[in-house]
Amino acid sequence: MADYKKPDYWQQKARKEGYPARSVYKLKEIDEKFDLLKNSRSSRILDIGAAPGSWSLYVLRKMDAHSEAMRGFLAAVDLSPLSREYDKGLFDSSNFFFIQGDITSAVIRETITAKGPYSTIISDAAPATTGNHTVDAARSLGLAEEVIVYAENVLSSRGNLVVKVFQGGDSGALLKHMKTLFRTAKSFKPETCRSESVETYFIGLEKR
Ligand SMILES: C[S@@+](CC[C@H](N)C(=O)[O-])C[C@H]1O[C@@H](n2cnc3c(N)ncnc32)[C@H](O)[C@@H]1O
Repeated sequence: MADYKKPDYWQQKARKEGYPARSVYKLKEIDEKFDLLKNSRSSRILDIGAAPGSWSLYVLRKMDAHSEAMRGFLAAVDLSPLSREYDKGLFDSSNFFFIQGDITSAVIRETITAKGPYSTIISDAAPATTGNHTVDAARSLGLAEEVIVYAENVLSSRGNLVVKVFQGGDSGALLKHMKTLFRTAKSFKPETCRSESVETYFIGLEKR
């Protein structure tokens, strides 16, 4: 029987299924629960904190199953480059755009804005952890707040948002703010997050 609790179970499964990181199963679970990534001619998705590229590959593979006219568009951004080990050329697709840089910088903000507006924003962005929970939670919250600013500025009305947050600090205030921006906003922790992990995802559905 598969041992889902073994630390490397999801990592091995990801490699076998052609993804560079186990995080793909978190997005899959969120997508299946909230039906986030519907394909349509007008779907424009922004993936924030995309490297090494599992979430982007998941989205592109979903898009690729549709005819070209219905494929939609994905923009992705990260400080680090994407891994080219598993993409089989998908990262060269004309409906994909990757920009390497810091989402808090003005140049990156302009580039991302120029490719929008987006119908869905997904963010798995996380700071490099220090091991000090207070510091890590504060940095994660700072990043999540930046993502919310993107949602305020480049997410279309009725659009959806997924944003990773480390629990603790003032994450409750962030969720409260999301409730003013979206018809529904809630916290969701996928089963595939390691049980001891402090991370959770805030889901905003139907931007007002
Ligand atoms: C958990 S990883 C994302 C994994 C990715 N979703 C996947 O499935 O392959 C978090 C990413 O956030 C990125 N990140 C952190 N701070 C960032 C920032 N200020 N701007 C852009 N990316 C950032 C990191 O470089 C890292 O690659």
